[in-house]
Amino acid sequence: DLGGGRRRDGLNFTAVAPNTEDRVVTAEGYESAVVIRWGDPVVPGAPAFDFDHQTPEAQALQFGYNNDFCGLVPLDGWNRWLMGSNHEYTTEPFLHKGYDANNPTEAQVKIGWAAHGFSVVVVEQDHRSGKLVPKLDRKYNRRITATTPFVVDGPAAGSKFLKTSVDPTGKKVLGTFGNCAGGVTPWGTILSGEENFNGYFAGGASITDPVALARATRYGLPGAATERKWERFDKRFDLAQEPNEFNRFGWVVEIDPHDKDAAPVKHTALGRFKHEGCTIRVAKDGRVVAYMGDDERFDYIYKYVSKNKIVKGDSRRAREQNKKLLSDGTLYVARFSGNSPAAEIDGTGKLPSDGHFDGTGEWLKLVSGDRSFVDGFTAEEVYVFTRLAADKAGATKMDRPEDIEASPRTGKVYAALTNNTDRGKPGKEAGTEINPRVGNKNGHVLEWEENRGDPTATTFRWTLLLVCGDPATADTYFGGYDKSQVSPISCPDNVAFDSAGNLWISTDGNALGSNDGLFAVPVEGKYRGRVKQFLTVPKGAETCGPVVNDRFVLVSVQHPGEITGANADNPLSHWPDGGTSQPRPAVVVAWKKDNGRICG
Ligand code: FEO
Ligand code: CA
Ligand code: CA
Ligand code: CA
Repeated sequence: DLGGGRRRDGLNFTAVAPNTEDRVVTAEGYESAVVIRWGDPVVPGAPAFDFDHQTPEAQALQFGYNNDFCGLVPLDGWNRWLMGSNHEYTTEPFLHKGYDANNPTEAQVKIGWAAHGFSVVVVEQDHRSGKLVPKLDRKYNRRITATTPFVVDGPAAGSKFLKTSVDPTGKKVLGTFGNCAGGVTPWGTILSGEENFNGYFAGGASITDPVALARATRYGLPGAATERKWERFDKRFDLAQEPNEFNRFGWVVEIDPHDKDAAPVKHTALGRFKHEGCTIRVAKDGRVVAYMGDDERFDYIYKYVSKNKIVKGDSRRAREQNKKLLSDGTLYVARFSGNSPAAEIDGTGKLPSDGHFDGTGEWLKLVSGDRSFVDGFTAEEVYVFTRLAADKAGATKMDRPEDIEASPRTGKVYAALTNNTDRGKPGKEAGTEINPRVGNKNGHVLEWEENRGDPTATTFRWTLLLVCGDPATADTYFGGYDKSQVSPISCPDNVAFDSAGNLWISTDGNALGSNDGLFAVPVEGKYRGRVKQFLTVPKGAETCGPVVNDRFVLVSVQHPGEITGANADNPLSHWPDGGTSQPRPAVVVAWKKDNGRICG
């Protein structure tokens, strides 16, 4: 039964049926509204959005394109927050009418630069309507773009691999691109992962040194030209002219939304890979732990443990101290072992005879401060070429690790493994107990428990919570729950918890033919595995950045209208403005019509 009925987990809503509508569809009894969309003013003085006359100067003051992660940091008062949104990427044919991909103009390229990066916006909840509204706040609102200076911090700051002709210090980088998921820290800052940065670079063929070539190849060797042609307007995007600029991306960045003058930071201590996100928990002894996925087929899950302990309280002094926690620590990568005989893992997703995809695991130490634990790698090389060090260490090849989150109730950790259609292909790794399906189109959700519940532990036990897809097919698993009673779910991406301890999962790339959406699932008790769809997003969009609290749910509606054949001259989605308008990525809030608790 996917219906209501009061339940202890509070998930009383009736599931939204799969659909392909060009709107946000929420569960009955809930309402939704756009909080802020691409082009809306962020910085006071920003002009109103004018699609047909957009300029780089206007865009640099307005909400950027394709917001992915969304984080809320409480501000003074019961109903105000600092909302941080990253702008992962631009799709130029949707940004400009009549766009010629072979000959972008300088203004078009510069609009693209300004549409990337990050926005900080004060938001308030109107207690009458339930709506969350953005404020044009002078003190906090801020845009970070592809040309904003970042400070490089941690053990690889100033590394020879990070020095360029423009920045001989190796400590100052312009911009952040490909920012995917992220996290809000307990000290009130926002983290964001630089993910698919390789697509911003050209000139891979200029690398002839075999060591340098192997390193660049492991991160996705740039081709002759980029899709956006930025290299025509700034030489740093051409490896032939600026070979190290490439190494200056692929980091976790930290933004302090309380201080719009503080330079954002790139943390080298967290390693360099295609960072999906970064979520923090605090160990009993006060050290902080960061969980991170590397979103690529057959890449890894990482953990960082800080050397120093968190300073309690939310004073400015405490925050300044805590902003150093991600600068010095130990970086690990995960190795997983299954407990069922290999012969029982046939690649179809059929459960082994013990009834579970499960086993044990260990965190392999890669580097700690300036000491490397990987043969043949200096500490500097581990930080800058982390993927190669993790290969050497023998990490477990996963099905595209995305967002990771620990349950505030139980301390168990959950990771979305979005899909991996290459698993089992010739020359590629076959199904294993932890990644049990070949040609994995729908992904799975992993759960693990650190030894004795200690976030800093170096061993753990794991099990698969969900093997996603159509519950009517034999290759899926929903935590042991009755599969006739669950919503279909495909390509889990971002994860979040509500205060009752339910896991919320947003999806990207639904391989079952309907729109992406947001789902909630209990992870403990008799309803464990009962997945229910809470909302769906418009055509062509992915759902990301979920924030779930007792009063509302926020989702990022990323790339609405990104449908084959669509562009600004032929928009196949008109969400959210309707009529004949262009589709606009946006943050959406959903709340209960009676202003009651989201769960309960
Ligand atoms: Fe940008 Fe890994 O999803
Ligand atoms: Ca993602
Ligand atoms: Ca097993
Ligand atoms: Ca994704």
